Order: sequence, then C-alpha cells, then structure tokens
Amino acid sequence: MSIIDKINETLQGVQDMHAANMEELEALRIKYLSKKGIISGLMNDFREVAADQKREVGMKINELKTQVQDKINALKDQFDNMDNVDDDIDLTRTAYPAALGTRHPLTIVKNEIIDIFGHMGFKLAEGPEVEDDLHVYTKLNFAADHPARDMQDTFFVEQNENVIKNIILRSHTSSVQARVMEQTQPPIRVICPGRVYRNEAISARAHCFFHQVEGLYIDKGVSFTDLKQVLLTFAREMFGNDTKIRLRPSYFPFTEPSAEMDISCNICGGKGCGFCKHTGWVEILGCGMVDPNVLESCGIDSKIYTGYAFGMGIERIANLKYQVSDLRLFSENDVRFLREFEAAY
Ligand code: PHE
Repeated sequence: MSIIDKINETLQGVQDMHAANMEELEALRIKYLSKKGIISGLMNDFREVAADQKREVGMKINELKTQVQDKINALKDQFDNMDNVDDDIDLTRTAYPAALGTRHPLTIVKNEIIDIFGHMGFKLAEGPEVEDDLHVYTKLNFAADHPARDMQDTFFVEQNENVIKNIILRSHTSSVQARVMEQTQPPIRVICPGRVYRNEAISARAHCFFHQVEGLYIDKGVSFTDLKQVLLTFAREMFGNDTKIRLRPSYFPFTEPSAEMDISCNICGGKGCGFCKHTGWVEILGCGMVDPNVLESCGIDSKIYTGYAFGMGIERIANLKYQVSDLRLFSENDVRFLREFEAAY
C-alpha cells in the first residue's frame, strides 16, 4: 500500500473515532500520536518518499495530524463538560421524596395475629396451596360423599382439560394442621396462616380467594375451657380489653363439639349498627375440640391426647379493625387504598 493510501485510510477512520471514557481516549492518543504511534510511523515512511512527492505527502501527513488532534481534543472537551455537569450538582438541595412501599393491610393484620398467638406459645406452620384431597378433606373426617365438601366450594386442578380428582386448591388451612399432626407427636401448638380458595362469585362480601389463620393445640388434658380462654385473650389483644366473646354451637366435620365465636361489635361497641346488622355481635371464627377420628387418621392416639382447633378469615378481622367496606379492595392493589395503611405498623 502506498503511503498516500495509508494516510487516506487513516484519515477516513478519524471521524469515526470514539471513546466512552478518559481511559479509552488516552488509548486513542497513544495509538495515533505517541512516539510509536501511527503518525510517527508515517513520518518514518516519509523519509523514503521520492523528493518530488515529499511536498504532497508532507501536507497530507500534517492534515492527518491536525485532524487527529482536533478529534481527540473534541472528545476530551466532551468529557471535561461532563465533569462540569457533576460540579453543578447542588448537594444541599432537598432530595426528591423517595417512594417507600407500605405493608399490605392483610399482612399487617396477619402479623398481628401471629404475634398474639406467638406470645401464647404457638409456632408457625405453613403448607402448600395446591393440595391433595387427603389433607384438605379425607384426614379431616370429611366422608367421601359428605355434603360438607360442597360447603367449601372446592376448586379442582385440571390437566389437559381433565380434572385431576385428587389435586385441589386448598379451601382452608386446616390442611396444614393435618400435615403437622402426621409429622409430629404432641404436644403440638401451631398457627397456620395462608391463602385459601373457594369457588364463589366475587362481590363486596365474597371472593374466590381469601386468607386464613388457623390454630391447633394438642396435648394431654386439653379442654374446651383452654380454647375459650385462648380465644378470649386473642379477642382482647386484637380489639381491646373491653371486647366480649360469645360461643354458639356449630358444626365442622373435624371438630366435636364445634362452635362459632362472635365478638362484641367493635364498631358500635355492641350497641348495634349496620356492620353488626344491629345485633351488637360479629362472627369472627370457627372452633372446636379436634374430632378423635381426625387425631387417629393422623397417627395420634385419641385415648391419650385431646386438642382444640380454630380458624378465622384475616379479611374479616381486617374489616373489623379498619372498616373496609368492600372485600375486593384487598386484592386490587390500588395505591390510594394501600397508602391509607402507611402508619398502621
Ligand atoms: N376450617 C374451618 C373453615 O375454613 C375453620 C375451622 C378451623 C373451624 C378449625 C373449626 C376448627 O371454615
């Protein structure tokens, strides 16, 4: 390649030269302008150029040198200007308000419930949301064709459009209790929070999923009195010392006897209001003594041990605490709603 071609080729590259930072710029300077750089190399070649061409080639090399220098200076200016921008930052200016997240109201209430029972010695237990029929129903004393299975509005899991009969979305967290009983011998004292699913039409008062906390205590000599005292303590811790409770007989396949617990309406103080339908009481949970059949099916000797269980909906408790009129607000993630709980924890 003739020296003129070499110069022309180098010249063409100059305009495309670019550097992302000072180091890269320095590398360019070395490549072109240092003693061993391209331009020095051309100067060496220049000695051998025929006398009648020296003028033309000399001018070309000078042009190249100027262009490289100009380009490198331009790039350098760019970096210097960027430094100036940094210098312009006013470190004393008030920061933009950082957008902090808040805990979800259901998380706040769940944590509070876990705390209250935690202080009474209940340990946390969790289990799968996609469960088998065995742990959601069979081990909990639901007979195969028991109508109570309908009561729970079960969601079945499908594969290739076929319902897998035994795999369901859990409809209560009692399934976790069944798993704990299978794996541990008494004393057992656990609290099981989690999401549950029921096939219900979505409205202000019902949703196809919600959250529960269920509790289980099994030991020698556990009685209904123990249950009642624990629940009274919970109600007072959660809703205040004046809160009253009442237990009404009820039915669950896995407890016998069973009850539903009401608390005095903490919105009207028991006088009667729209929330408690003017009765002064609101139902908050189901409970009872664990049916001996359940203990036996989970490998616990019902002649030695007795136990109680209870379960409540977290949304319900949150409604009572914060008077949320529409259940759907809990799952819509509208920040205007969520921000109202900024100060709640
Ligand atoms: N599992 C019941 C429900 O989902 C609640 C419950 C739990 C009732 C434990 C009694 C004992 O409605």
